[in-house]
Parts: sequence; C-alpha cells; structure tokens
Amino acid sequence: MSKKFYITTAIDYANGSPHLGHAYEKVLTDIIARFRRLMGDEVKFLTGLDEHGQKVQMSAEQAGVPPIEVCDRLAAEFQGLCSALNISNDDYIRTTQDRHKAVVREILQKLYDKGEIYKADYNGYYSVRQEQFVTEKEKVDGKWPEIFGEVTEVTESNYFFKLSQYQDWLVDTIKTKEQMIYPRFRSADALQFLKEPLNDLCISRPKERLEWGIELPFDQDFVTYVWFDALTNYITAAGYGTDEFNQQWPADYHVIGKDILVPPHAVYWPIMLKALGIDLPKHFLVHGWWLSSGNKMSKSSGDVVNPLDLIEQFGADAFRYFVTREMNVGQDSEFSIDLFMSRYNSDLANDLGNLVSRLLNMGQRYAGGKVPTAEVEGAPEKELKALWKDTAKELISLFENFQFHKALERIFTFVSGINRYAETRAPWKLAKSEEAVDQAALRTSLATMAEALRLAVVMLTPVMPEISDKIRGLVGAESFDRLEGQLEWGSKLEGKALGEKAILFPRPERK
Ligand code: MSP
Repeated sequence: MSKKFYITTAIDYANGSPHLGHAYEKVLTDIIARFRRLMGDEVKFLTGLDEHGQKVQMSAEQAGVPPIEVCDRLAAEFQGLCSALNISNDDYIRTTQDRHKAVVREILQKLYDKGEIYKADYNGYYSVRQEQFVTEKEKVDGKWPEIFGEVTEVTESNYFFKLSQYQDWLVDTIKTKEQMIYPRFRSADALQFLKEPLNDLCISRPKERLEWGIELPFDQDFVTYVWFDALTNYITAAGYGTDEFNQQWPADYHVIGKDILVPPHAVYWPIMLKALGIDLPKHFLVHGWWLSSGNKMSKSSGDVVNPLDLIEQFGADAFRYFVTREMNVGQDSEFSIDLFMSRYNSDLANDLGNLVSRLLNMGQRYAGGKVPTAEVEGAPEKELKALWKDTAKELISLFENFQFHKALERIFTFVSGINRYAETRAPWKLAKSEEAVDQAALRTSLATMAEALRLAVVMLTPVMPEISDKIRGLVGAESFDRLEGQLEWGSKLEGKALGEKAILFPRPERK
C-alpha cells in the first residue's frame, strides 16, 4: 500500500495581493508534493486563504464593501496565482468556509468544556497591526517597534487559553523530537522563546472591536482570535471529526516562513493539539525570506515583486527554476531581476534550451528524425556516463533533504557535461564523413545525447513540470509517474521519434 503524505503551506492573509514570497512557498511545497508522488506516496497537498481578522475588516470598511467581497476577490487572485504557477494542490481551504467554521467551533467548545479556556479581565497594550496584546517587555529603547503599528491601552474581558501549563511539556517535546523543526537551528528560536514564562493566550476579541471572525460557541459577544482560527485549517482540511482524519493526520510537513514559526506554529499549535489530544504534526519546514534591498518583501514594505509579471514574460517553469535554484531552503535570498535574467539566459536558454534544439536539429538532418542506436562506447561516452552516475547517486537524497538548489546545480553540471560531450564528438563533423566508423560514432553521439537529456530532465520534473515533460517527449521517451528505474542509463530510445526543433526558452524583450 502506498504511504499517505500530507503537506500544507501557510494560508495567506486576505489583506493584499500575492507577491514573490507567497509564490515561493507554494512552489517549494509543490516540488516536495510532486517529488513524493513520484516516490509513490499518496499525497494530499493543501494551501489556502486566511480570511478573518482586523486587517480584512478594515480594508473592507475602507473600500465600503462587505468583508467577504474582499476575500472573494483575493481568493480568486491567490488561486489564479496557483494555477499560473502550476501548483498541484489537492485542496484549497478558505477560513470562511462552513466546513472550517464548524471545526473551529467544535474545538473551542471542547477546550472550553475541558476547562482549558477561561474568561478574565485584561488590561494591557494592544497592537492593531499584529492583532495582539503586547507587553512593556517588547519595547525597544522605550518605544514600540515599528512592526506593532499603533499601540493603545485597553481594558476588556476576554477568553484565555491555558498555554502556560504546557510549557515544560513543549520544551521537552522540542528537545526530544529533534527532527520536528527543519532546519534544525530554528528549534533554538523556539526554545529561546520558551525560556520566558508563557502567558496564557487571549483567544477572543469582543465583537464591538472585531466582528469579522468566527463566533465563540459559548459566548456570542465574542469572535475567536485569528491565529486560533487559522491554525485549525490544517485539521479541518484533513477531515477532523470524520474517519478520513485518522488516515490523513498527523501532517507530514507544515511548510511555513520563518516569521510564523515562533510563537504560532511552534508554540500555540502544538499546545492546542496537545490539549485536544491530537498528535502533533511530524515536521515544520521553515523557509527564509525573499528580500528586496535587504528587507523582507511584504505588502507593508511596498517593495514587492509581482510573480505574475515574471510568469507572463518568462513562463511558470522559468520562475519555478529561478526561485528554487537561488534559495537555499531555510536561508534568506535577495531577489534581483538581473540575477533572474542571468539564470534564464545562461542556464535555461543557453545550456539546456540550445542543447535540446541542437539535438533535434541534427536528429532530423542526420538520422531521419529517429533516435539511432548507440553502437560504440568510447572515452567520451564513458566520461559522460560516469558523470551521470555521480550525479544520479546524490539526487534523491538531495531532494529528500530539501537541498533543491544543490540538486539543480548538479543537474545543470550534467547538462554542461552533455554540451561538452557534443563538442567532443562533434556530430556535425562526423556527418561530413562517409567512413563507417564515423557514421557509427555519429549515430552513437545522437543516441547518447538523447538518453542523457532524458536522464537530465527526470529530476527536473518536480521543479519544471511542463518543460521537463516537453523535453522528455521531444527525445522520444515515455511519460512516467514513478521514479523507479527512471534514473538508470540505458532506456530503450532506439527508433523512437525525435521531435521537431523547438525553442523552449525564447529570448524575451526586456521590459
Ligand atoms: N495568515 C498567516 C499564516 C497562517 S498559517 C496557519 C500569514 N500569512 S502571510 O500572507 O503573511 O504569509 C503567508 C506565508 O508567506 C508565510 O509562511 C510567510 O512566511 C510567507 N511569506 C510572506 N512574505 C515572505 C517573503 N518575503 N519571503 C518568503 N516568504 C514570506 O502569515
């Protein structure tokens, strides 16, 4: 039986258009989902939209429309981005859906009945931008940091979730489950946070302050706090409360950015689950940020790259390649259009694109449009096969360990190896000779290039699904849905039709 593999992205805030950071997280998760499918797993891949909260309510008020209208528009935008990027998600959750509201209410009621939630008066400082109470301790040089926006003093009754009683358990869990947070160094951020005593979490907002949220089942004057609502999406979509849940849960990976590991994912979420008696997710995969002039690319910084512009100009696969090649998962990366252009031109258009069109061109001219038979094995063939052997033996483990940038580097080193091979064998020169040995070398070189290209694109498939599939078809290879056997040299391409010359990466007009 195939193994279930449940992977999620964070759900995006419905308070602005998608940017490069959102697009990256989806691409990263999609690559893992596609890779796991090729490994034979039964994948469930979830992404979605986080629609409640003050910011959404405020932007709806400013626009003079009901909040759901703002959400519907943004849901269409974010889902449009997913399809433009060829994201293979199996589900798209919106926190305004009934299935989700029902689960949030159910777990709130459960926790309330168990005495994990209590009501108390609270007097404190409130940050509208972060939608949370903040403490004096968080001041820097006597001032509230910029990220809090306007901070006001308020007194109100609210509901609190007993986080503090789980602090020791959580510290212990993070320390013992060493593989829970990837990269490992991020566990230290969580443990650092847990060095201070945990305050209980305020999980409600009075309706007079915030209406746009899920009403508490035990007090209709309140809605629930946005993180409590948002985190629950992961179990809603796994079918919490139904038989399906036991099959899907625990999630294998929650893929998130480093800004939302601590406290929401590494503190609130495990404690919520523990209090409910639900298993913890197996892993958090924490990626870094796309930066623009050294700062996090975000709606509030204003300095954002619209992924749709790049996709429109260069295609989804070029975008997917670039973000995956440049970002070492877990670290930050600076975006620049010059870097994008240079990767596009040198790796994709020159090294890969030209190689394919060269082969197809020669295949039509010298081999009647069919893959010939490799008849000899000389030094150039041996060298190329050895290079492939070294490349292939590393690829799966690089993918399993999220070292996608390195995997792509290795694959493109192999692509350069094929180009070198072509220069060495120079089939265009061999074609001019009538000698039988040159003709055999000509056939061998074309067959070798076709097989090498087939191999080169196998592991590009999760990263560049469309282009890889196209190249595979152009060199006469069959499509596959399992990796098994695909990385071995020696498929039988002889006699298969080679495609007509194709331009895979057109040179764009620079805008
Ligand atoms: N709604 C919350 C997440 C709730 S998950 C239960 C949220 N939304 S967000 O729209 O602000 O961010 C969504 C994801 O995009 C987060 O994982 C965040 O880290 C990621 N990114 C947002 N900007 C980013 C960059 N500049 N670079 C890379 N990813 C970043 O947080």
